[in-house]
Amino acid sequence: MKLFRTKPIETDLAKDTGLRKVLGAFDLVLLGIGAIIGAGIFVLTGIAAANYAGPAVVLSFVVAGMAVTLAALSYAELAAFIGGAGSAYGYGYAGLGEFVAWVIGWMLILEYTVAISAVSVGWSGYVGNALAAMQMHLPDVLTQTPSQGGWVNLPAMLIILILGILLATGAKVSAHFNAIMVFVKVAAILLFIGVAFFHVDTNHWTPFMPFGWQGVMTGAASIFFAYIGFDAVSTAAEETRNPQKDLPIGILGSLAICTLLYMLVAALLTGIVPYSSLDVPSPVSEALLQVGAKWASGMIAIGAIAGLTTVMLVLYFGLTRILFAISRDGLLPPFFSHINNRTGSPVRVILLSGLAMASIAGFAPLNDIVELTNIGTLGAFTVVCAGVAVLRYTRPELHRPFRIPFSPAVPLLGIAFCVYLMTQLSADTWTRFSVWLAAGLVIYFTYSYRHSKLSAPEESKPAHAPLE
Ligand code: ALA
Repeated sequence: MKLFRTKPIETDLAKDTGLRKVLGAFDLVLLGIGAIIGAGIFVLTGIAAANYAGPAVVLSFVVAGMAVTLAALSYAELAAFIGGAGSAYGYGYAGLGEFVAWVIGWMLILEYTVAISAVSVGWSGYVGNALAAMQMHLPDVLTQTPSQGGWVNLPAMLIILILGILLATGAKVSAHFNAIMVFVKVAAILLFIGVAFFHVDTNHWTPFMPFGWQGVMTGAASIFFAYIGFDAVSTAAEETRNPQKDLPIGILGSLAICTLLYMLVAALLTGIVPYSSLDVPSPVSEALLQVGAKWASGMIAIGAIAGLTTVMLVLYFGLTRILFAISRDGLLPPFFSHINNRTGSPVRVILLSGLAMASIAGFAPLNDIVELTNIGTLGAFTVVCAGVAVLRYTRPELHRPFRIPFSPAVPLLGIAFCVYLMTQLSADTWTRFSVWLAAGLVIYFTYSYRHSKLSAPEESKPAHAPLE
């Protein structure tokens, strides 16, 4: 049963980890918004409205929001009582055993890698839009992937490599910088809401559901992407003053604010222009251009570029942290946790993952990358929800500062929602996901299982460390 060996649950979040405990609930809400609002709202809303849901994309946001809230409640319960900054991977390792942790970690690596690529494609769209407004046009072959008739999406590749170099020099997104960026992108969204409100033509809302409920659900599975990132809050557990109280507030608070903003933007976007015209790389600013609000369109493009850049930075940093944590536990080779002496950052892994992400961003179609992100995330969320239910059963004695109401009904509902949304994704996405998981299993059984830090020489020790 070594597959289910666990690390000790760190119940004392107040212990000194060397990190300064400076973050409060408000900072965490900002951190969450910093990681959440990005290509989902600025790009995918248009694509989902045009291709799947029509004006009813606003309902897609409600459905995806419900699935995410259920998963977020599970995250909040685990984050508040299992210590460490390893996010869902760490909770899995402490509560559910090494094998489950590996599966979660492997899915998180997929989620973050492809999410960053997807956001960079959105970034490229808005930059192209801003340059065009200044009469500078990039050739289509250098901004479009082969599937769109171009050669490569060069700006998307470049921004990833630039951010990689920045992170490799030891840069971190400080809470202060994040707060400014959150302000800029929320201001852009509020500006859109304020301007669009006066251009609504209610005729655009009929037919409201041109593709029926099926379209709403497919739309939900697609724009689910817009909510990804709230889990970044849980990685700040060790830097939080009062994690038991502040983590749930940070996670659920940031999600509530984003959901509200998303629904407003979706309703207005489909209210000011025909939904069928929204299948473009920068729908939010292009819709404003269509109704003649040129200056607002430009301001929003700038806000979107700033916002998308922060999302990429936060996710990129998160990816290297997850790889670092997994490698430090011995489940991936030491290469992935090697820290450069001069910069104090994991330079090798930053550059290697940057090259991988840039290749995906340059050549893969956006929709494929988004679907792959979503399936990886939904898979990880499913296991997290299951983890809450299982731990309530196997470790009922543990003190839980935040308890999900109506457990196990709520976590089980979370599983049902996530699995249902996964079934809405395409067969190709399922194939890619299966290949990824199969590769993960091969790595685990040929490498991780034997190199785990929980393996020899401690093999004779009990797998379960005492809790107290
Ligand atoms: N939720 C993030 C975004 O929409 C990943 O860009």
